[in-house]
Amino acid sequence: MISLKINGKPYNVEEDPKTPLLWILRDIIGLTGTKYGCGIGQCGACSVLIDEQSRRACMLPIEMLDGKSITTIEGLSDDSGLHPVQKAWIEHDVPQCGYCQSGQIISAVALLENNPNPSEAEIKTAMNGNLCRCGTYPRVEKAILTLKN
Ligand code: FES
Repeated sequence: MISLKINGKPYNVEEDPKTPLLWILRDIIGLTGTKYGCGIGQCGACSVLIDEQSRRACMLPIEMLDGKSITTIEGLSDDSGLHPVQKAWIEHDVPQCGYCQSGQIISAVALLENNPNPSEAEIKTAMNGNLCRCGTYPRVEKAILTLKN
């Protein structure tokens, strides 16, 4: 059994320890905000926060996550409202089809937590691994720039 802490709640998971986190989130726990895109670590749609770093849930066997703190898109907001990054996404109309956006937001949160004042080049580098077929990149960058300290 693997003990996971997801969005502040404990879960004891009895699936195969090699099962990637993405399948546990979506199919076992029912947190479907984290998306399946490629399944091979290439697109970033499945990004989640692991100890405040953006990581790809499709590539993370749960055996690597025992005792780690995992945050999904559902865990960013609370009773006091949306996360500031989510608010900026709405304010700047970032999504088009929306499919990749939970991963984009997770990576933006990780960037700003680790570097509250990123340059445009640092934003491009940090967000480089989150692909968007609608091409929302300019709006992603604009929204992040408005959140700089
Ligand atoms: Fe995980 Fe594409 S689904 S990186």
